Amino acid sequence: MKRIAVLTSGGDAPGMNAAIRAVVRTGIDRGWEVFGIRHGYKGLIESECVPLGLRDVGGIIQQGGTILGSARCPEFKEEASRRKALENLASIGIEGLVVIGGNGSQAGSLELSRMGFPVVGVASTIDNDLYGSDLTIGVDTALNIALEAIDRLKVTASSHHRAFLVEVMGREFGYLALVAGIIGGAEAIVLPEVEIDPEDLADEIRRSYQRGKPHALVVVAEGAAYNAGLLAQYFQRHRDRLGYDLRVTIIGHVQRGGSPGALDRLLATRLAAGATAALERGEFGVLLGLRGSEVKATPLEEVASRRKELDPALLALAKVLAA
Ligand code: F6P
Repeated sequence: MKRIAVLTSGGDAPGMNAAIRAVVRTGIDRGWEVFGIRHGYKGLIESECVPLGLRDVGGIIQQGGTILGSARCPEFKEEASRRKALENLASIGIEGLVVIGGNGSQAGSLELSRMGFPVVGVASTIDNDLYGSDLTIGVDTALNIALEAIDRLKVTASSHHRAFLVEVMGREFGYLALVAGIIGGAEAIVLPEVEIDPEDLADEIRRSYQRGKPHALVVVAEGAAYNAGLLAQYFQRHRDRLGYDLRVTIIGHVQRGGSPGALDRLLATRLAAGATAALERGEFGVLLGLRGSEVKATPLEEVASRRKELDPALLALAKVLAA
């Protein structure tokens, strides 16, 4: 192998730049030329490719986002688009590809790999919903951002004796909400994985009021059957039941920006270095992720066919701690 390429795809995540940097520097150390593909799979189809040297990735480890740009690319689901992408890679002489991204991106990696191209994935998404990695790049920073927002909201909530619904990202997976709720000391957590009756939630908020708590903070996952907007609509009709006055904050994309923390920089660096090592070993069609404290490769076929589950022990703990 002489030339490889790297791309970032799907929702950006803090730490993607650290991963790009590690792919470039460990790739060059292996004697390869490394290219960056701009704007994810879109750039692969449109052949937007730039050579990346050691200095091109200097000073980026602390930057959020991705210097290569990212995109959602539904066209990549079509075989014709993937053929075009492979033709483009062949025309530049690229023999291996590192895809830094989450579920949708690794579904694309799997398709390329099924077409015979050497691809290795790096687990990166703030949602932490990717099978094959206990923790994905960006989760820790996104959690710290949510935590800062929750801490601040508690201050103002206490001053005004209010309840807050705080909605966090995470797509269909409740990890971000569950952990943000636990570490933020939420009175209740609303998750896609756990059915709730808004009546019961109203009672729970009311109980906090009756116990004399100065505020009630409910962390809501965006993918829950009742997201923050729906819950607010529901509670609008039952205002007096809560005890507190109610406000809603949706943290949204704020969670994706910002400088990656120590954990994400190190995780991104380790997974990306693992990716070039896998390419060198000829181990293709795999996702590099963290299992326990080790960097491990999981076949992309398995990643695509298995669902990550929330830790039941954490779920149980959340209930006890909200007392
Ligand atoms: O997958 C990351 C994520 O931030 C999800 O948490 C969220 O649902 C989605 O991306 C938002 O996507 P977009 O940036 O395309 O609006």
